[in-house]
Amino acid sequence: MKDRAGDAANGAVAVIPRADAAMNAKPMLRALAGEPVWPPPIWLMRQAGRYLPEYRAIRETAGGFIARCTTPDLATEITLQPVRRFGMDGAILFSDILILPWALGQSLEFVEGEGPVMTPIRDSRGLAVLDPARAEALTAPVMETVRRTRASLPDHTTMIGFAGSPFTVACYMVEGGGSRDFAETRRLAYATPDFFASLLTVLVQATIDYLSAQIEAGAETVMLFDTWAGILPPSQFALHVMEPTAAIVDALNQRHPGVPVIGFPRLAGTLAADYAERTGVDAVALDTSVDAAAIAASLPDGVAVQGNLDPIAVIAGGEAMRAEALRIRDSLRGRPHIFNLGHGILPHTPPEHVADLVETLRAT
Ligand code: CP3
Repeated sequence: MKDRAGDAANGAVAVIPRADAAMNAKPMLRALAGEPVWPPPIWLMRQAGRYLPEYRAIRETAGGFIARCTTPDLATEITLQPVRRFGMDGAILFSDILILPWALGQSLEFVEGEGPVMTPIRDSRGLAVLDPARAEALTAPVMETVRRTRASLPDHTTMIGFAGSPFTVACYMVEGGGSRDFAETRRLAYATPDFFASLLTVLVQATIDYLSAQIEAGAETVMLFDTWAGILPPSQFALHVMEPTAAIVDALNQRHPGVPVIGFPRLAGTLAADYAERTGVDAVALDTSVDAAAIAASLPDGVAVQGNLDPIAVIAGGEAMRAEALRIRDSLRGRPHIFNLGHGILPHTPPEHVADLVETLRAT
């Protein structure tokens, strides 16, 4: 400070360091800024979870899944586990996309062998239980986890915050849990468009506030998981996926300029380029159904791709996994790319295969 004041007094132009200068050295943030980085940064969706013995150890001793997500001591430790073990370039907050509807007031339980169970919300009476004011208090521990994790990360590792996208979160909220095709949600979106639009409006605003709070707590980028985007026809995709996502990206760009947003419109196929253009995301995460290089070539300039190794290849491991990982990596050389899977890592994945994958990708 003193030096700069002195320079200014001497008539020299004071050089004010960019607030994000240190962050820009991180490989993942460089790729998100549109820079081709070689070898590409790597992290894996669901990198903290049941495939890790150290996660299973915590899971056996402490409370339920929601308690793990909302106890900063546990969530911080779990977030850091894969970073410690594999040296990942990204640390994704340990939480869940359903923590937001839970914090808004919808009941949520994770039932062993069944997944999430919620009281369905299917009309305006259901909407009345949602209270944005209580979400801030109930998600305070999540922000504490972000703060603590960020403070413990190695220099090269980027802190990733996340939320579900309004459409995918609405799918679980309306259906009351998982589903093969979310037929009831899609029927209601056609039959009661006012109800569905109101639900998405509540979720857009709550998601903006939730992600803003994560950024204020130390998230350096945020990702929107739209797992079910691909079940919609293009007209509905524009309405229920692209419009809400664009509103979130817009608001975040205004509140937190320079903080990149990653969108994951799973199974959107060739709509991915349209999605990137219309929503303004800085990166598109790709699922396994597309050729990453072909999609990358169709994206607006500077938009990064993230993905897209088949999670099953990591269960198989060995030469098949290595060859496929290197094929994807090399096909994107010269473009901004963050290596990842096309969907979350599966519970019976051998951790040694993940170690081998990271080592293979970093050897050039
Ligand atoms: O990627 C990460 O490591 C960060 C944490 C994270 C979890 N879920 C942890 C989790 C993230 C980003 C999610 C996203 C999520 N959650 C999505 C979108 C991405 C995707 O996978 O499609 C969805 C649809 C959910 C909802 C959800 N959470 C379901 C359907 C389930 C049950 C199925 C299952 O795998 O058990 C969960 C539970 C869940 N979320 C676990 C973890 C580690 C398992 C918890 C446990 O049993 O200990």
